[in-house]
Amino acid sequence: MSSSAKHLLSLERLAPETMRRILSATPSLKRDRGRAGERPLTGQTWALVFSKSSTRTRVSFEVGIRELGGQALFLSANDIQIGRGESIKDTARVLGRMIHGAVIRTYAQHDVEEFAFYAGVPTINALTDAEHPCQILTDVFTFEEKRGPIAGRTVAFLGDGACNVATSWVWAAAKLGFALHIAAPRPYQPSPDLLRRAGAQVRCFEDPTDAVTGADLLYTDVWVSMGKEAEATERLNLLKQYQLNSRLVAHAKPNVLVMHCLPAYRGNEIDTATFEANAQTIFDEAENRLHVQKAVLSWAVSPD
Ligand code: CP
Ligand code: NVA
Repeated sequence: MSSSAKHLLSLERLAPETMRRILSATPSLKRDRGRAGERPLTGQTWALVFSKSSTRTRVSFEVGIRELGGQALFLSANDIQIGRGESIKDTARVLGRMIHGAVIRTYAQHDVEEFAFYAGVPTINALTDAEHPCQILTDVFTFEEKRGPIAGRTVAFLGDGACNVATSWVWAAAKLGFALHIAAPRPYQPSPDLLRRAGAQVRCFEDPTDAVTGADLLYTDVWVSMGKEAEATERLNLLKQYQLNSRLVAHAKPNVLVMHCLPAYRGNEIDTATFEANAQTIFDEAENRLHVQKAVLSWAVSPD
């Protein structure tokens, strides 16, 4: 129970220097992929405990763990006793005696934190309702790979500005020193409490044109996050003016990057033409999940 294990539970709790360390370790992992290199997970078994669907996160972690010398054990939460009501605390105390690390995708942020505490092995948040830290670390990496340092730049997020992805962007802005504009209707803007705690350069806009003007990166995410399906009709109605499309792109900087964490629902949060015009960036972003998360895993098992 508890220990000195290193966790990536949220960007809120990740020190800026650790973010920079992970981002700096990524280029060589990307460049040298497939060549004999360090295998810091040799002899280790990592469990992926997922309560929600996933394509990118699951595959990039499974492949990344194997490429670093470890074994990946995928556990759908419904197939283990969690699905029948066994507590996170007891599950963590069992798995912590058998596995060397855990990657968790679930609903409540508290569940990931409780798992990390009771398992005592490195634990990584692979998306909760509160945050998606691995995604935003990857997005920052992808921006910097193509455009140089993100500090001092402007990122505009359009859509559900209160979702997990937007919240991780708020913390990234606070810790890495860039401006974040959030274009969303009032009910989908980040809470004043979050903005106060983050103390970041975040401005919220109801008019999407104002939000994107002069931006270096335009970013969007699904309008109906996993777990919010009951609100789909209301969300689609309220968010429809916030579609990322060519009209808005024209107001950003001329060499603006357009990114999407995927999966994309064309015709909702992004139009087909804008998605396809930026597909190279968007799928580079998806690939980079693998490289950045290998840096996260390497950091998590490193002694310092
Ligand atoms: N972007 C992302 O996390 O994708 P998955 O839900 O497919 O893992
Ligand atoms: N906000 C989305 C991200 C999906 C990768 C969700 O939680 O479903």
